[in-house]
Amino acid sequence: MTASRTTSAPSVDRLAPWGFAAFVEANTHDTAYRPPVVDGPVGPTIVRGGRELVNFASISFLDLERHLPVRRYFAEGALAHGLSTSGSRMTQGICRPHHVLEQTIARHTGKERAISFATGLLANIGFVHAMSSAAHFDAGIEVRNRDTVFVVDRDVHWSIWKGLEGLGYGRNVHAFRHNDVTDLARILGRDRSRKTVVIAESLYSADGTMGPIVEILDACDRHGAISMIDDANGFMVYGPENRPYAREAAAIRERADFVMVSLSKAVGLEGGAIAGPAAAVDAFELLSGTSMFTAAIQPPTAYAAERTIDVLAGTPEIVDDYLAHAARLRRQMHEAGTPTLPTESYMLSVPIGNDAVALQMREWFVEDGYLVPVFSYPAVARNQALLRLFPHAGHTEEQLDGFLRTLATYRQRLGL
Ligand SMILES: Cc1ncc(COP(=O)(O)O)c(C=O)c1O
Repeated sequence: MTASRTTSAPSVDRLAPWGFAAFVEANTHDTAYRPPVVDGPVGPTIVRGGRELVNFASISFLDLERHLPVRRYFAEGALAHGLSTSGSRMTQGICRPHHVLEQTIARHTGKERAISFATGLLANIGFVHAMSSAAHFDAGIEVRNRDTVFVVDRDVHWSIWKGLEGLGYGRNVHAFRHNDVTDLARILGRDRSRKTVVIAESLYSADGTMGPIVEILDACDRHGAISMIDDANGFMVYGPENRPYAREAAAIRERADFVMVSLSKAVGLEGGAIAGPAAAVDAFELLSGTSMFTAAIQPPTAYAAERTIDVLAGTPEIVDDYLAHAARLRRQMHEAGTPTLPTESYMLSVPIGNDAVALQMREWFVEDGYLVPVFSYPAVARNQALLRLFPHAGHTEEQLDGFLRTLATYRQRLGL
């Protein structure tokens, strides 16, 4: 018989040097670091801490379950392929739903091949890692890419910055001013590397602006740089001629070397992928690290994502209706005298300015039954706070009218 071990929780005092308790104490806004618990499915409304709020925070905004049997796809996928990949692509092989999903993503992004990751965040980190790795397995099996230079829009997603960490800011990593192609050209003009990668987003989640994609790709061509567009927020939304940003979407499809997509936005599920030239994407299996050393998308999710992407492409009215719905809300805001950032995207950013005022508004909104995300410092520059709304396809007119009235009241109260 073995003696039972007594265990005790490690002393909190030993964690004092990290300053966690002080960090949490100093945060006066209740919801910022202690997320409320959400019950039931999230959609046009959300139940948090037992209260129902009209939800402007949902990034899966198409209300797809109104149109497609997504849960049935998921159940079919679970029954046919199980709940887990139960092992890595290297040791076991790639599961059928992932294989079909990757082919589908390659087709819809216009690239030769795609590799999937458990999230878009892991896809971005893996991309940067793969493009800058040095690996030596055996004679002839090696890459030496520590000299890669990255030139990125200053406002790219955290995951890109995380991947770039440690690569040498000012040496192998440069940032250009947000959406500023002149600044990009200035940096590229000084760059003497043979291996330069430019990274920009299609649609920036921080401010809802669409990047100047065509001009960025022109600059890459002039300089001989490789391009990577993070299309997390544009995938399956932009593309067809009748929609905004058709020119940018065509350029991403036809001219970008690599594109990253997320399945947590329009597709309404979870996962991510990098699509690009076949030889590079094949090498990413080993070199990204975030494919080989971690779990994959769950098979039923991969299966449901593939079905959803194809149905979305074949039923353009789902996205067309949503974009019209978002444009209507934007127009109504303008008619009510509420400015939005000048962008035609489905994200609505309302400049507020003062950080404290924006955080106060967020609390008032919750009290009055609305969940409205606020982007304040450090997500954006100090005192350039924004309300950043995702209209949801399932919002009713009554909910939107109520929101517009409430917003107008706050603006009046604050003298905005
Ligand atoms: C521009 C951008 N890139 C990457 C990501 C990460 O994607 P995922 O949610 O699939 O991890 C997001 C999501 O917030 C995003 O907005």
